[in-house]
Amino acid sequence: MNDDALLAQARLAADRSWSPYSQFPVGAALLAENDEVVLGTNVENVSYGLTNCAERSALFAAISQGLAPRRFKAMAIYAPKVALISPCGACRQVLVELMAPDARIICQGSDLDATRVWTLAQLLPGAFESF
Ligand code: THU
Repeated sequence: MNDDALLAQARLAADRSWSPYSQFPVGAALLAENDEVVLGTNVENVSYGLTNCAERSALFAAISQGLAPRRFKAMAIYAPKVALISPCGACRQVLVELMAPDARIICQGSDLDATRVWTLAQLLPGAFESF
């Protein structure tokens, strides 16, 4: 699946966002080793701190469905309320642990020309790893 097709899936996920507090929908589409796509969206909560980002929602759903950790090939992330979305620090740590080491992180916001593809090393250089 190419980057544009995966981004289209991330857009679908963003449409499912539960973000009444921030009004900032985010969608993530995760590409597994077997080419299965798992979607995640941000799910907020009135207590704010319990919010789950789209990226972690997708990864946790995929692992829960039995897809192999550390072999996810790519994740597309889409957020329409910002020019270019960039994953938060907490999600970067989780991405480093669960994605394949050479995974592509494809990020897009409202400025389509600003779309970027990052590696995990670019997103979180010197990440903490204990394994
Ligand atoms: N959010 C994500 O889902 N992913 C990101 O990469 C950045 C932030 C969510 C958390 C919260 O629901 C809203 O966006 C505003 O921060």
